[in-house]
Amino acid sequence: MNQNKTQSLAQLLDLMWKDYSTLNPAALKIHQLFVNSGEKVINDHVAYRTFNHPKLGIKSLSRQIEKHGYIAKGEYFFKEKRLYAQHFEHHDLSLPKIFISELELEKMDSFVQQEVEKMVEQIPNSLIESERILVCGRPWTMTHQVYSKLAATSEYASWVSAFGFRPNHFTVNVNALTQFKDLESINQFVKKNGFALNQAGGEIKGTPADLLEQSSTMAEEVTVQFEDGSFKIPACYYEFARRYEISKGILYQGFIAKSADKIFESTNRKNQ
Ligand code: NI
Repeated sequence: MNQNKTQSLAQLLDLMWKDYSTLNPAALKIHQLFVNSGEKVINDHVAYRTFNHPKLGIKSLSRQIEKHGYIAKGEYFFKEKRLYAQHFEHHDLSLPKIFISELELEKMDSFVQQEVEKMVEQIPNSLIESERILVCGRPWTMTHQVYSKLAATSEYASWVSAFGFRPNHFTVNVNALTQFKDLESINQFVKKNGFALNQAGGEIKGTPADLLEQSSTMAEEVTVQFEDGSFKIPACYYEFARRYEISKGILYQGFIAKSADKIFESTNRKNQ
């Protein structure tokens, strides 16, 4: 992507999907299973993760979607995980919402702060100021040893350090499906086809009373190249969201922090 050329929003969303579906064969397979069932898959939202560093926080990343007409809506707090998040909506509600979370570095220990500072120093400002930041992957070098040490403190910090800037997950808009009416049937379909679901807080997070129900796969491991070798680590997951009406014909568009809190765990390492 030419850094000076602004892509159309459709092109940018397409690049996001290509990056995500290439890195995560499991998500692509599930997407194809829906398509093979006669579905046209519409995305409810695309999620990003970052650090609240002045150069890389939500304020920095969101500039690249705000220029395409996205507007900040809800905000969310995750005290235990030391995360803050905002979601962005486009006036065209057929376009996916963008959910961006950030790790609150000032609440982390000095090891995490120092390692993040080393990462940020390696990113050219021209990248931070361009849309390429949303599909650039990891723009720094690092070791698996540091990854593991970060993971011991924060699974979230280790994920961002290993994968950088790219969609953390895409989410299927369940309301727009025709063959599947609820999350129970989707979960059965996904499991029957051999994919593991995130069980933290139960398979389905949220209730109709919350106006949002969500479930997600557990991120499958992919091989990632580090300075000290290649290692298999959990990459991205696929999520499913069913929304309920706030009034006749109007679906709730926000998120539920207590559900999102558990969904973050879809990228946790096994056996930890
Ligand atoms: Ni999500």
